[in-house]
Amino acid sequence: MSVKLKKEISKRRTFAIISHPDAGKTTITEKLLLYGGAIQTAGAVKSKKAERAARSDFMEMEQKRGISVSTAVMSFEYAEKAMNLLDTPGHNDFSEDTYRTLTAVDSVLMVIDSTKGVETQTKKLLDVCKLKKTPVITLMNKLDLEGMEPLDLIDNLEKELGVECVPMNWPIGKGKEFKGVYDLQSGEVHFYLSNRQDKMNDVQYIDLDSEDAVRLVGESEIGKLREEIEMVHELTPEMDIERFERGEITPVFFGSALNNFGVQTVLDAFVRIAPSPGPREALSRVVMPDEEQFTGFVFKIQANMDKNHRDRMAFIRICSGVFNRGMTLRHVRTGKDSFVRNAITFLARTRNLVETAYPGDIIGIPNHGTIRIGDTFSEGEDVQITGVPNFAPELFRRARLRDPMKGKALAKGLSQVCEEGAAQLFRPLSGSDYIIGALGELQFQVITSRLMVEYRVDADFESIPRNVCRWVIADDATKQQLIKLYERDLFYDNNQNLCILSDNTFRCNQIADKYPDVRLSKIMEQQ
Ligand code: G4P
Repeated sequence: MSVKLKKEISKRRTFAIISHPDAGKTTITEKLLLYGGAIQTAGAVKSKKAERAARSDFMEMEQKRGISVSTAVMSFEYAEKAMNLLDTPGHNDFSEDTYRTLTAVDSVLMVIDSTKGVETQTKKLLDVCKLKKTPVITLMNKLDLEGMEPLDLIDNLEKELGVECVPMNWPIGKGKEFKGVYDLQSGEVHFYLSNRQDKMNDVQYIDLDSEDAVRLVGESEIGKLREEIEMVHELTPEMDIERFERGEITPVFFGSALNNFGVQTVLDAFVRIAPSPGPREALSRVVMPDEEQFTGFVFKIQANMDKNHRDRMAFIRICSGVFNRGMTLRHVRTGKDSFVRNAITFLARTRNLVETAYPGDIIGIPNHGTIRIGDTFSEGEDVQITGVPNFAPELFRRARLRDPMKGKALAKGLSQVCEEGAAQLFRPLSGSDYIIGALGELQFQVITSRLMVEYRVDADFESIPRNVCRWVIADDATKQQLIKLYERDLFYDNNQNLCILSDNTFRCNQIADKYPDVRLSKIMEQQ
């Protein structure tokens, strides 16, 4: 195995940020880019309110996409490491996209608003991390506001999320009096000398017992801090890297993304403790990152990345080996080999052609309708990386075409839009309906708008009495039996997987009782 490959793997940190809307994900993303040297000044977040107001308007969203989507993956160098930060959509209706992005990372930054504590969306997202045992680093954000007491925040996180917390630093004051943090590992005080939001802040590192510390922090504050430190050491566990890597504990940092307090500390934590790319489960074996042969899987498909390139992009997370421009890759599901000349990487906001990429890196390749989420690419081996799921939608609508001559365009549009995975297309075993399933209302508005703009199809969606979806996992003979008995309830998804769409769970329970060998699943993984 090449030493170079091993070195490149150990350099990589591939992570995503999760949070409840408004906790500060966009702000911290921007600040990480600032500290990572990928941007020179921060401040783009200022216009976010206007953007938010327009989020339900897809046409507007499209206009903004040049920025918001091309930043779906941001790569930058920091402390001699190659950082790949994968963005996740903030809106709940796109949560499926977020869940799948989490399958492509090796660690996660969880941002909590310290004035609110753990919120619903954080909980859901953390559940996905737990399922995958993804290591999570926590930032208690907005310490510059009068929020909950630090110990109460830790308590709240442990109770709500069921993960043990290991405070890595401790805030000195909060709200207007937030002056810095005490590093519980090194025993140093990080005192914030400036308070700039657009540029990096000056920090003075001082010994807790020094005169400078007393002078800068204040005598009574230092006394209070010493008591708190003693209590924290007594009440919380020691940092244990193996438990962190198994997702059992989360190291917790306090800071303020807006004021750049603690941003560098968080980046340093990713360098120091976050894991580099690890092994990946495949159907037949485990794929190790340092294998010479390339493997990677598609975790996201995105249309309209750029108005100048009306293409769809498949995002591939590299799991093993080296990607070299012009190499031949096998699309394992179809068995087809192709030269990949035009793969791109995402350095901050620009698209660059990739010459070489390593495990943990994300490359984008143009997709002309043949690539699906969950597909594996290899150098010829018939290997299928697992763990990239589709989640059962909860809302179902039938597409209604206004111009009957546009049937073909509707089929193409729905099929292509659903390839991106934020909504799913279902077809009845008999009949010509197009049923769309999604996790959020907004998806239907988005699809209506995209059908019109991209496919010139005037269509809308009507409600249907179905709200439960379960994939049927069974052998072919049993599936045929079920099809004879329950034809009206059975559908094929866009990947020809059989599933039940029903108006309640009664039909599912009935089948489960009658056929113990049939598994009805809320999650479908590429087979
Ligand atoms: P999101 O992506 O998680 O939805 O959150 P975002 O970063 O957009 O932040 C939500 C709001 O919280 C923004 O304010 C942002 O400025 C603010 N914020 C983020 N981090 C901090 C922090 O450390 N301290 C304080 N005090 N505020 C923070 P907004 O009023 O919605 O937008 P804006 O008008 O300030 O741009």
